[in-house]
Amino acid sequence: MCCPLQRPSCRSARALPALASLTCLVLAACARHAAAPAPAAVSPPPAVRYEAHLAAGGILPGGGTLRNPHASDPAVARSGAQLFLAMNCDGCHGAGAVGFTAPDLADGRWRYGGADAEVFSSIYYGRPKGMPAFGGALGTEGVWTIVTYLRSLPVPASVATESWVDQ
Ligand code: HEC
Repeated sequence: MCCPLQRPSCRSARALPALASLTCLVLAACARHAAAPAPAAVSPPPAVRYEAHLAAGGILPGGGTLRNPHASDPAVARSGAQLFLAMNCDGCHGAGAVGFTAPDLADGRWRYGGADAEVFSSIYYGRPKGMPAFGGALGTEGVWTIVTYLRSLPVPASVATESWVDQ
């Protein structure tokens, strides 16, 4: 489609003086199109400094700051709910993220931290005991969309006792 005048049926058109300049323009446009650079690779987010960790001597180590670009936007949270199902998160974490073979993500208790940046990191890079890294598949925007959904879930007033020992 890009270069219709390169098709054999159109070659004779180049011989016509009236069309010559048009041909040049089209071919020049095609050359530009072909030479267009590949989209820049998305750089990974910086390392997360966990809010819940104690800092020895009260001195925080260096670390990037990740901010959820969507904050608590309800429309994004709804998209995140769809993405949660589409990516089969519910297959392990259960419908509504209330836990199944993998932990409850809606009870307000977090093994790896429940701040936006910490939840982002869990999903983007995965976690050692069976949580796959979804950053490659979902990209930064997709992960933030799901984080927005998870953080929108209301934390129940009382939650079941749970032990992580030996898991
Ligand atoms: C194959 C099963 C599986 C799938 C699919 C899966 N998870 Fe997990 N996920 C786990 C397990 C198991 C853990 C606990 C890992 C650990 O404790 O190291 C976990 C942990 C997490 C945590 C950290 C919880 C905490 O307490 O800190 C988050 C957040 C999370 N998953 C979100 C997701 C999202 C979002 C998806 C879909 C994009 C997803 N998971 C898909 C198995 C899964």
